[in-house]
Amino acid sequence: MIRVLTRAPSNIALVKYMGKDDARANLPANGSLSMTLDGLCTVAEVEWNPGAELSFVWKPVADPALESDKLTAFPTARVPLLNQAAVDRMSRHLMRVIESAPALMAGFGLEARSVVGTVVFRAANTFPASSGIASSASSFAALTLAMLTICAEDAKAFHARFDASSELKQAVARLSRQGSGSSCRSFDGPFVSWRGETTASVPSKMPELTDLVLLVGTAPKSVSSSEAHLRVKTSPLWQGRVERANRRSDDLKRHLSRGDFESIARLAWDEMWEMHSLFHTCAEPFTYWEPGSVTILKWLVQRLKDRWDAIVTMDAGPNVHILVRSEDAANWKTELAHHFGGMPLLSDTQGAGASILEIS
Ligand code: PMV
Repeated sequence: MIRVLTRAPSNIALVKYMGKDDARANLPANGSLSMTLDGLCTVAEVEWNPGAELSFVWKPVADPALESDKLTAFPTARVPLLNQAAVDRMSRHLMRVIESAPALMAGFGLEARSVVGTVVFRAANTFPASSGIASSASSFAALTLAMLTICAEDAKAFHARFDASSELKQAVARLSRQGSGSSCRSFDGPFVSWRGETTASVPSKMPELTDLVLLVGTAPKSVSSSEAHLRVKTSPLWQGRVERANRRSDDLKRHLSRGDFESIARLAWDEMWEMHSLFHTCAEPFTYWEPGSVTILKWLVQRLKDRWDAIVTMDAGPNVHILVRSEDAANWKTELAHHFGGMPLLSDTQGAGASILEIS
């Protein structure tokens, strides 16, 4: 028996992945760029018991039988309720990881073992379900890494190599992407770009940032992000979108390398409106916005008009991410509590990406 514990954070895109070139491989239509989070993450455990046949078992509960359950030892960790479709999707992905392991390992002079038997997988998120934090990004990243570590003949050597080699991180990210697109940006940090098959860490002179997330709504999404990726292409605004987003992604890299906060804030603002405008204008229009989202955006228009000291973005949901300098975070929290006191607020700093925590 071998058991591997990993952790992978979520990430928040400033230039968005929206629209695919290849839906089966999750290849994006355009380049995107995100900030990796830290404490808002998934902790995952994969256990392999060798046997005659390969099967996958999702453990939907914390495990009191484990003397010290590492998953639930994380503050606020919650085991998500996965429906059968989600369990099947993850099992198929873990199968893909096992099948891809020999070639991937060989590329790094490592050996893969043959994994046959029962694979038990568990995961817990440190953020509430449907909180506007993408759990698929962090959970696919964490489970891909745990499964792949088990596939290594020498798991400890794989661990050391993973920590030391950005090429190996990128190869694991490519594999994870096939299960969930945006998960490929959770393997490095704090800033990661993704175009086609390639992810890369982006050099930055920015001060440390904190993401303050105003939780407007926590209801499950009415339109899944897979559906959104399809529908945006029917918007009249799709024309020129790929070129605009790629240009924005290049511009953002330049602004990050110079630490130009204001230019980043303006760029992220335009990008957020553009992605949501695609949703609002496609053949079958939809919106993720709630009245609370609009209230916050209207307030931000006034608040930021003389001083762009926050980078604002929204994902496929009603919640508003406000990225501020960590040194300003306490003041921002007070200000947000004053204006939106009743609204829950999540707070997290930038992070460094997925890691292997334990092999036993
Ligand atoms: O990885 P997916 O298919 O859930 O798509 C994520 C899309 C957005 O979160 C809306 C944008 C992004 O780049 O993360």
